[in-house]
Amino acid sequence: MPVTLTAFLEGHSDLPQSLKTLIAAMAETCAVIGRTVNLSAVNDLQGALEQENVQGEVQKQLDVIANDIMLEEARWKGMVRGLASEEMDDYVAFDKGDYLLFFDPIDGSSNVDVNGVVGTIFSVLPAPQGDLSLSDFLRPGREQVAAGYAAYGPQTILVLTVGKGVVAFTPDADGVWIQTKTAMTVPSTTREFAINMSNHRHWFPGIQRYIDECVAGKDGPRGADFNMRWLASMVGDVHRILTRGGIFMYPGDTKRAEGKLRLMYEANPIGFLIEQAGGKATNGTTRILDLQPTGLHQRTGVVLGSAEEVARVAEYLSA
Ligand code: AHG
Ligand code: MN
Ligand code: MN
Ligand code: MN
Repeated sequence: MPVTLTAFLEGHSDLPQSLKTLIAAMAETCAVIGRTVNLSAVNDLQGALEQENVQGEVQKQLDVIANDIMLEEARWKGMVRGLASEEMDDYVAFDKGDYLLFFDPIDGSSNVDVNGVVGTIFSVLPAPQGDLSLSDFLRPGREQVAAGYAAYGPQTILVLTVGKGVVAFTPDADGVWIQTKTAMTVPSTTREFAINMSNHRHWFPGIQRYIDECVAGKDGPRGADFNMRWLASMVGDVHRILTRGGIFMYPGDTKRAEGKLRLMYEANPIGFLIEQAGGKATNGTTRILDLQPTGLHQRTGVVLGSAEEVARVAEYLSA
């Protein structure tokens, strides 16, 4: 008998009912976003808008549409008190709810027009009582109670942690989420790296040394050939790493010391997943989940995946 998402959640008797309801609602919302992505060519919803988000990025039509889908209060059934998104300047507060929800509505949005993998990333934290202010949202990633992503690739898949390992679900022909992965783990060693090599000249010496040694292959100091993959979609690259190991890096560099990826919408939820799968997630040297946020849209360097390789990068950066 296949395990459904509903049965999986019911089996976690220690999880608050409100969190289970929120996760089920998130799965339904991702299904809606996934269908919207799937139909975006026929519905003329591809391409960019003539506007930028708070990150200074030109928004794709789908960035805005997926963000609007996530903002529909009725989806969250009174469970979400506040939302913050890569695509919104400020947070949004609702009247009641036990949780704060952070999200990247479309991750990898440059892939939309080329039919590459995109996804939705989410992070759930407990909401405080009373009126919300900005400081309520600036909680470190270790306080997350759930996180995950949906990847809209050849298959749609929802990857989830509630702090007890990492599992994944795929919708069947009737749209019922069926558990398709149990206990996803990242092996501690790897011979595969993911980084945008075109930034090589901007990297700090520790990153250059790490990648140069990988590229040197069998005859280099690592004594092994390494393979490279880069999908321009964090969700896609991280899904590969959760499936077969690897190291993913978007480090801070001399051009952008603070890095590119967003702490609250990308690094924290993915960092939580990677740790729950036995890997490590740092900003290069410091554990991502321990970073104290100072702004909603804060960026951070990201180095995550197989623990031994992430530790090696930290060593090279500290040398
Ligand atoms: P988003 O589409 O949410 O802005 O995120 C894109 C991110 C991430 O998914 C990916 O790893 C990285 O940007 C790709 O950056 P480059 O285009 O610089 O390779
Ligand atoms: Mn973006
Ligand atoms: Mn993203
Ligand atoms: Mn995005």
